[in-house]
Amino acid sequence: MNARPLLWMAAVAAAVAATPPARAADAAAGKAKAAACAACHGPLGKATMPDAPNLAGQPAMYVVEQLKAYRSGARKHEVMSLMAKPLKDADMDDLAAWFASIKVQVQAP
Ligand code: HEC
Repeated sequence: MNARPLLWMAAVAAAVAATPPARAADAAAGKAKAAACAACHGPLGKATMPDAPNLAGQPAMYVVEQLKAYRSGARKHEVMSLMAKPLKDADMDDLAAWFASIKVQVQAP
């Protein structure tokens, strides 16, 4: 039997074990950081600009993924690429936790 896959798995397990536990996202900190976003996305994540999307109630994972995509350049937008550039992963987690925590209701038209 080839032991290589097992060695590889052991290496991955060791790397995972060595990773410090993820810091919990902080929605309250995210709320404060979101002051910079309110001009377009609204103070409660309901957009106030016609070309900006609502962020209230968006899944945190989605918001983080989009912010990372703007930061890396995988997703490009004049404003958002600039907004995301200085954000650290922890900032994105906090912002996403805040927007995800805002309760939204939908109604049939
Ligand atoms: C000057 C206006 C403006 C500001 C300020 C702004 N945004 Fe945006 N944001 C936009 C626009 C416009 C888009 C749509 C961009 C596109 O088409 O990709 C957008 C898109 C996004 C998206 C993608 C949403 C989706 O549905 O895919 C996220 C997430 C986001 N913004 C988060 C933020 C955060 C967090 C901040 C504050 C740190 C912020 N934005 C500040 C205008 C703004």
